[in-house]
Amino acid sequence: MTAMNRRKRPGRKQLIPRKNRDKRIRLRRKDEHLFFAQGQRPGFADFTDIHFIHNCLPELNIQGVTICTSLLGKVHRSPLFINAVTGGTRRASKINADLAWVAKKSSLPMAVGSQLVALDYPPAIPSFKVVRQVNPAGEIWANLGGYATPEQARRAIEMVNADALQIHLNVPQELAMAEGDTSFRGILNRIAEIVVQVNVPVIVKEVGFGIAREEAQELKKIGVAAIDVGGKGGTNFIKIEQSRQSKALYPSLQDWGLPTAITLIESLTATGGKVDIFAAGGMASALNIAKALALGAAGIGLAAWPVYILLKEGRTALLRKIQALEQELRAIMLLVGAADIAKLQEVPLVITGFTAEWLRQRGLDPGARAPFCHPCKR
Ligand SMILES: Cc1cc2nc3c(=O)[nH]c(=O)nc-3n(C[C@H](O)[C@H](O)[C@H](O)COP(=O)(O)O)c2cc1C
Repeated sequence: MTAMNRRKRPGRKQLIPRKNRDKRIRLRRKDEHLFFAQGQRPGFADFTDIHFIHNCLPELNIQGVTICTSLLGKVHRSPLFINAVTGGTRRASKINADLAWVAKKSSLPMAVGSQLVALDYPPAIPSFKVVRQVNPAGEIWANLGGYATPEQARRAIEMVNADALQIHLNVPQELAMAEGDTSFRGILNRIAEIVVQVNVPVIVKEVGFGIAREEAQELKKIGVAAIDVGGKGGTNFIKIEQSRQSKALYPSLQDWGLPTAITLIESLTATGGKVDIFAAGGMASALNIAKALALGAAGIGLAAWPVYILLKEGRTALLRKIQALEQELRAIMLLVGAADIAKLQEVPLVITGFTAEWLRQRGLDPGARAPFCHPCKR
């Protein structure tokens, strides 16, 4: 038995009647994901093949550097957002309330975790609604899986009075779950129906395996407003599912997925500046954030890192660490001579090694930059 398994594992207590086995499993799964995600220290995506060029004469002062950006057509103070994590249980409710407090204090958008459980189990609704109660005027994003119907999407949006809807794609995770889906036909059509039928922008996101150029093109065609590439390097749901099930399901898939830097460039190239591209998957490093923004990302999603800090050190510490991350981002921008994100997207970059070779073999020019994603100009 591992040290993680010896620690108090959540969700063994009966939450709802035994006959509702699916709902019970879904609720317990949310707490188990949190538990096992905390067992992995938040990982960092590998951006080491992307290089900035130091500018020894930047002609800037750090107070003059702005990190403001435009996400889904709205101007935001910062490109960071708190990505989907949780909801459903009492523990999740407290985490959502604390994350919403941090989101409010730092004016960051925040997504709730998958709301599917609350659609057919009303007692779970308050654990999501709490986010809107804590942050009544904030930017909040609803969240459902790729099989959601337009009707479910409308109810999820209404539940938190959402400003946008995230639809998550997680095929490897489903395959690795004993209780997961095994059939994945028709998801693109479902998302296309939702895009047409809901009255908020739709963001399609991966959860740590990335989105390749071909699928990004399909998503652009059906009119999604944003793609969150959710690449490999941060949270690893194959490993989390293996820990949950105390056995190695599909052991050769531990390293499956497109690294965040690569999926970001692939999605940027595929969408040509017509769709907001968000970088996520191991992004809690100011240097990674700066590089992703320089490549063309409009926003930066953080999931495991904020929860890890919150549970270890509390919400005030998380707020301070977000401020420190943003200040370090400003410092890096100064060091390359960029006063704002629009300028950051113009500074020279060098792409080497595995990433350059990958891009060449995929027919992409490592020296080319994707068209800009609507940065907020000063
Ligand atoms: C504990 C945990 C639970 C998550 N639950 C959801 C979810 O319900 N819906 C979703 O779209 N993504 C979910 N994610 C995925 C994150 O939103 C994000 O895409 C992924 O973790 C990669 O980002 P990271 O490396 O910063 O954690 C979850 C992540 C974690 C760590």
